Amino acid sequence: MDMSPFEQWESEIRGYCRAYPTVFDTASNARQVDEAGTSYIDFFAGAGVLNFGHNNERMKRAMIAFLERDGVAHSLDTYTTSKREFVSRFAEIVLEPRGMDHKMQFMGPTGTNAVEASLKLARRVTGRHNVVGFSHGFHGMTLGALALTANQAFRGAAGVPLLNVDRLPFETAPGGGIEALDAYRAALEDGSSGLLPPAAFMVEVIQAEGGVQVASEAWLHAVQQLAKDVGALFIIDDIQAGCGRTGSYFSFDGMGLDPDIVTLAKGIGGFGTPLAMNLNKPEHDQHWSPGEHTGTFRGQGLSFVAGAEALSYFTDDTLMDQVKVYGEVMRERLQSIADTHHQHGWEVRGRGMMQGIDLNDGALGKKLQNVAFHNGLLIGPCGSGGKVIKLIPPLTIPEDDLHEGLDILEKSLATALESA
Ligand SMILES: Cc1ncc(COP(=O)(O)O)c(C=O)c1O
Repeated sequence: MDMSPFEQWESEIRGYCRAYPTVFDTASNARQVDEAGTSYIDFFAGAGVLNFGHNNERMKRAMIAFLERDGVAHSLDTYTTSKREFVSRFAEIVLEPRGMDHKMQFMGPTGTNAVEASLKLARRVTGRHNVVGFSHGFHGMTLGALALTANQAFRGAAGVPLLNVDRLPFETAPGGGIEALDAYRAALEDGSSGLLPPAAFMVEVIQAEGGVQVASEAWLHAVQQLAKDVGALFIIDDIQAGCGRTGSYFSFDGMGLDPDIVTLAKGIGGFGTPLAMNLNKPEHDQHWSPGEHTGTFRGQGLSFVAGAEALSYFTDDTLMDQVKVYGEVMRERLQSIADTHHQHGWEVRGRGMMQGIDLNDGALGKKLQNVAFHNGLLIGPCGSGGKVIKLIPPLTIPEDDLHEGLDILEKSLATALESA
């Protein structure tokens, strides 16, 4: 396979291609095939983008029809029929049934752009600078989002100080829990603590890149309450855990939470086509002036078409019921692997079809990724040093592929352990 054009011309920043050293050619649902004809089961799904699989048939047909009739593919933020369809369907299928009256804000079509927009709005609304982020949090690579991202490997590339963030331990991190929130509250109440009240708290319900760390409902409520009490906004970053990943549209569904802003990206464009969108409570949203946070690529016709089609999966419970069942299959298998190797103290964590096994060993995680690749399975390590193997297959994965992928994982782990 000829990789020389990449090696000669593409930047050293290349990442995933080093873990998956092949040239992919075609893809369908949970499988990618390289140009040598080797088929890989995809348990990584574009880092959580491809919730509805590669080349989702329904979306593909809708997008081809849209292209055939010369639909407006690029629209800035002018009104288009495809955007009207997406906005109307999102309101009807996601917002209204939940009693949410949030406004939809589009921006440059990446998660980090959604996070940047949410930070600007929170700072505008409150007139404050600092935002509370949590240890192991991941929110993107642009400077504002990177300031909230905890991982030093990414922060180190900033080249400038990453400011205006107060860092608290996530619930599951050392020193985390309600006590840490109480201590922060007490400090804010102490006029001589040196802390100023924050503009917002930004939290992931399940830290994905942070190592599949699952926050409890009680802790999330405590964060929300603290935000309210100190006059800050409560922002949920649902970029990776949202769009059905956990068995409901939002990762926080059913918890009775009331976020001021929800950031969405990744799966929302449906097909893997880019789209990002924030949900802003109207009383906050009204603080924006027209065109104040732009983004040339915020009007993605193809993503509106595919994203509107993706919403069909949420008009009944079929897919979400399946996500719960498959999530349980994944969890049970990971737990049985952890039990088999109980001497290592591996922990299984996750919700719905985001499940992870914490191997407590980043080198082993990377080794496993490598062996799994050679056995025909794509997985991604996450967490500190890559010690957690996160499984995020397409939600639409065929059952046989799910079981085969789990078999490959188990077999690969045994090989990786032997050579560790
Ligand atoms: C929770 C979360 N927020 C933000 C981002 C950043 O998204 P993007 O890479 O599209 O900028 C990610 C990406 O992995 C994420 O998982």
